[in-house]
Amino acid sequence: MTDHVLVKDVPQYVEKEITLRGWVYNIRKSGKIWFLIFRDGTNWIQCVIVRNEVSEDVFEMKNTLTQESSIEIRGVVKSAPRQAFGYEILVKDIKIFQIAESYPIALKEHGIEFLLDNRHLWLRSHKPHAILTIRSEVEKACRDFFDERDFVLVDSPMFTPNAAEGTTTLFETDYFGRKAYLTQSGQLYSEAAIMAFHKTYCFGPCFRAEKSKTRRHLTEFWMIEPEMAFYDIFDTMDLAEEFVSYLVQRVLKKCQNQLTFLKRDFNRLEAIVPPFPRITYDEAVEILKKKGFNFTWGEDFGAPHETAISEDFDKPIMIWKWPAEAKAFYMKRDPEDERYVLGVDMIAPEGYGEIIGGSQREEDINKLLARLKKENLPEEVFNWFLDIRRYGSVPHAGFGLGLERTLQWICGVHHIRECIPWPRTMVRLNP
Ligand code: 4AD
Ligand code: MG
Repeated sequence: MTDHVLVKDVPQYVEKEITLRGWVYNIRKSGKIWFLIFRDGTNWIQCVIVRNEVSEDVFEMKNTLTQESSIEIRGVVKSAPRQAFGYEILVKDIKIFQIAESYPIALKEHGIEFLLDNRHLWLRSHKPHAILTIRSEVEKACRDFFDERDFVLVDSPMFTPNAAEGTTTLFETDYFGRKAYLTQSGQLYSEAAIMAFHKTYCFGPCFRAEKSKTRRHLTEFWMIEPEMAFYDIFDTMDLAEEFVSYLVQRVLKKCQNQLTFLKRDFNRLEAIVPPFPRITYDEAVEILKKKGFNFTWGEDFGAPHETAISEDFDKPIMIWKWPAEAKAFYMKRDPEDERYVLGVDMIAPEGYGEIIGGSQREEDINKLLARLKKENLPEEVFNWFLDIRRYGSVPHAGFGLGLERTLQWICGVHHIRECIPWPRTMVRLNP
């Protein structure tokens, strides 16, 4: 069954006869000729059926073929500069795999909840296809970036006894009579792995029981987390900006058609090159105060704050040096002022919010123990993590980039749920 050509490769076969296999996207009829928009998952192409080029049976298929019927088409590739794709097929023969039942997703506007309920079918439409094609390229670029820079991929577990990012968003599960959580972040495991491999990354799903219904939160999302021995907070910010611009430039190079379909502003993405602006938390609070926000020092920023802070910048900004109480237990205290930790958040432009969270890590076991106690985290289950500080502790740092948040920004998509094939939110578990 592999003797067919993919639509994306059609330009290589001008004036040649080829076979295509795929699905009917749309049919338009006009007398002695009819048009079939065909898709095979690699692209869409117009096929032309002319009465005296095909058998009577094939010509009459205009009345039997339905949207999403699966078919095989034999025809000759013609250059067609006026078509979106630049080519069309002059059809010689059509074979039918299956005549599809009445397809629920018609070629008109549908409500978002209806489309999400039918995500298994909606994937076939242009917009999900464009976004998920970009997702695939970004995932590849994530790996390429770290693979090219001497990082070793060390995967972290999905079941864990440890709360890495606070106890309010844990998914708890029964693990043969013991308590386990779905991982919120692979970081703690990466901290152990760099002592074996120097620089590592992990890339996989993370789970957080987010009880807020926002356009930026999923309960299951993907994070890529590099971790580096002998890096400080500044090295980490350098790496983070280099990484994010690498991702954006890769998409600009490889996914022009998809970005064009999504009507993304290329100029805005082309501007995403290092250096990115860096401001401290205190400077960010100053910006908020100047803009009239009534903000209490020590709190974390919410979405409206992030938007207000970042709206004067064309590039992602990095906010660093945070009040300790606003951040996770593992962040290193600022040696110059113990009220602060050496953490960093990267905020995307255009109101897309935080795409990266990272920090230099606390390498002092006593400071870590104090923080665990303060956060009410059980020391026994963190004992293995403390070993990293017992046996050759070194300065180290790392960050995590949220894949879907990053895609949301790069694609210019309003809601994060469109940036993952099968979105999971507080209100959505199906399909
Ligand atoms: O800022 P966070 O919580 O940082 C960590 O988990 C660190 N342990 C990472 C590290 O240093 N290795 O999460 C990192 C990023 C956020 O900036 C955001 O992009 C994404 O993960 N993220 C979410 N994306 C979608 N839905 C959610 N509920 C998310 N929570 C975090
Ligand atoms: Mg964060």
